[in-house]
Amino acid sequence: MHFPFKAGTLFQRTTGAVKAVDGVDLDVDAGKTFGLVGESGCGKSTLGRAIMRLTEPTSGSVTLDGQDLLALKERPLRSLRRTFQMVFQDPMASLNPRQNVESLLTEPLRAHKMPGGAAGHAKRIRELLDVVGLPSTVVNRYPHEFSGGQRQRLGIARALVLNPKLVIADEPVSALDVSIQAQVINLLKELQERFSLTYLVIAHDLAVVRHISDTVGVMYLGTIIEQASSETLYRTPMHPYTRSLMSAVPVPDPSVEVARKRILLHGDLPSPANPPSGCRFHTRCPWRQASRCDNERPVLRELASGHRVACHFAEDIEAGRIQPRTDVVVDEPAPAKVAEQPDETEEPAEAANLATGRRPNAL
Ligand SMILES: Nc1ncnc2c1ncn2[C@@H]1O[C@H](COP(=O)(O)OP(=O)(O)OP(=O)(O)O)[C@@H](O)[C@H]1O
Ligand code: SF4
Ligand SMILES: [Mg+2]
Repeated sequence: MHFPFKAGTLFQRTTGAVKAVDGVDLDVDAGKTFGLVGESGCGKSTLGRAIMRLTEPTSGSVTLDGQDLLALKERPLRSLRRTFQMVFQDPMASLNPRQNVESLLTEPLRAHKMPGGAAGHAKRIRELLDVVGLPSTVVNRYPHEFSGGQRQRLGIARALVLNPKLVIADEPVSALDVSIQAQVINLLKELQERFSLTYLVIAHDLAVVRHISDTVGVMYLGTIIEQASSETLYRTPMHPYTRSLMSAVPVPDPSVEVARKRILLHGDLPSPANPPSGCRFHTRCPWRQASRCDNERPVLRELASGHRVACHFAEDIEAGRIQPRTDVVVDEPAPAKVAEQPDETEEPAEAANLATGRRPNAL
């Protein structure tokens, strides 16, 4: 997904392109969750919107149940749309403030000419509100009359009203405070089991993605640099970028935690309009090796079953044959109190935020 940019006052011409998503290839298994993490501006939302065809991708293909979505004309696409829906980051911006709940939830049913008539639609809405934990008495209320968490429940209800197969949730909880985040994540999990939903969950919070995903993909500057099962990625991250991110996550074991070293990442995400040559991470990578990292773009290689890494030196780094620059490795100060192992219903204790490198509950 490239966004061209133009220059010139009278005669505008294309002078370059923001390569917001560039060479991403991923599979989401039916009934499973693929979690996509990456720092702000790396292209997560653009990828989600391109898959949904909310923005028309420059090239590529999106296959849902064997059907290429990008090859579909407008009409068949519209009718298939009910099978793939999106939950947006900011429910206030995605819900029309002039429509009450009844109207917001009935609109998709009418637009897709779902059977049941007015009575059937009203029944479906009551059922759905119950499923997302809102009382049926809210049907006459407007989005601004809800709390943030309730509004996100409403956004989820709207995404589910047409009974989709695939739901793309773009930062579904990042606008919510931490205690409400856990409730909404648990709700998404319950709904997945109940309706056999397939999820692509986008977040910049490692904990959010960990607790909901079967597979996690880490994105950097428009491309996926590491992908593995959730358990493997958090236990043995192999890409230098993922390693650096994980080094900021406290470990709920005092003996390990006391020896934990933090790998600091310097510099901001480079511009996707002018990405670095070779490995896109080389300008910030603590393990960068001369010439090859600067000149040759690494491909995503499968290093263990289901564990794919885009780094020329992943095996050497893993085996300790290549060490990071010493100036970026620092001792992590001992925590005042080591958090207990999280359980499913609690706020994840090891939450770490890609934007800040800190635990959100420490903000
Ligand atoms: N319509 C557009 N036109 C031009 N550039 C765009 C457009 N949409 C996104 N971009 C650029 O593409 C890049 C990726 O943006 P995107 O919104 O996908 O990031 P993100 O990973 O979702 O970030 P965040 O975590 O802040 O939501 C950014 O550099 C952004 O400026
Ligand atoms: S290829 Fe080189 S620069 Fe890129 S992540 Fe690996 S070591 Fe770092
Ligand atoms: Mg985004």
